[in-house]
Amino acid sequence: MKIILIAAVAENQVIGRDNQLIWKLSSDLKRFKNLTTGHHILMGRKTFESLGKPLPNRTHLIITRNPDFQAPEGHYSFANLEEAFIFCNKLEVEKLFIIGGGEIYNQALPFCDQLEITEVHAEPEGDTFFPAIHLADWEEVERQDFPADEKNEFSYSFVTYEKRAQL
Ligand SMILES: NC(=O)c1ccc[n+]([C@@H]2O[C@H](COP(=O)([O-])OP(=O)(O)OC[C@H]3O[C@@H](n4cnc5c(N)ncnc54)[C@H](OP(=O)(O)O)[C@@H]3O)[C@@H](O)[C@H]2O)c1
Repeated sequence: MKIILIAAVAENQVIGRDNQLIWKLSSDLKRFKNLTTGHHILMGRKTFESLGKPLPNRTHLIITRNPDFQAPEGHYSFANLEEAFIFCNKLEVEKLFIIGGGEIYNQALPFCDQLEITEVHAEPEGDTFFPAIHLADWEEVERQDFPADEKNEFSYSFVTYEKRAQL
């Protein structure tokens, strides 16, 4: 199973505020949809609640410490990341996307094979942050830069990192 983390991250590492996204970037949402549709997506309970309802054509895996949490039909909750990984391995899931938020990115980063980062070229105020990406561990393999336009309020870059082989 390939574990892929997908996140939109500002230059000051901010990823959210008040349990919401804080920018309008239509291209980022399109890319998120293209990459994740048809796959399993793993998230913290707060990010799941921020979605409002499950995203179409994706199986949601929700991490929570609340044993009474009920995932919607066709979606699943787990007490920790490890249980979710075991579930996906049993199902022989090909790709698992880690979609946030801050707590889950922090805990899942060491298990990921690839990072799909949208660098948002802004420094907004926020209360949730992405962990530092150490270039000793991650190799940038692709970068595309785009200007702001009427559908994207800031300039942004789509950047792919692959985990470096451990020597
Ligand atoms: N920019 C982006 O790409 C992006 C993507 C996703 C989210 N976000 C933003 O990130 C923010 C949400 O992130 P967040 O860090 O506050 O919350 P989060 O990571 O989405 O969820 C945190 C919750 O996950 C559960 N959890 C975390 N670690 C756990 C563990 N080890 N075992 C069991 N359960 C665990 C807990 O749920 P319980 O409290 O139920 O136990 C915890 O309260 C929002 O602002 C959202 O908009 C940004």
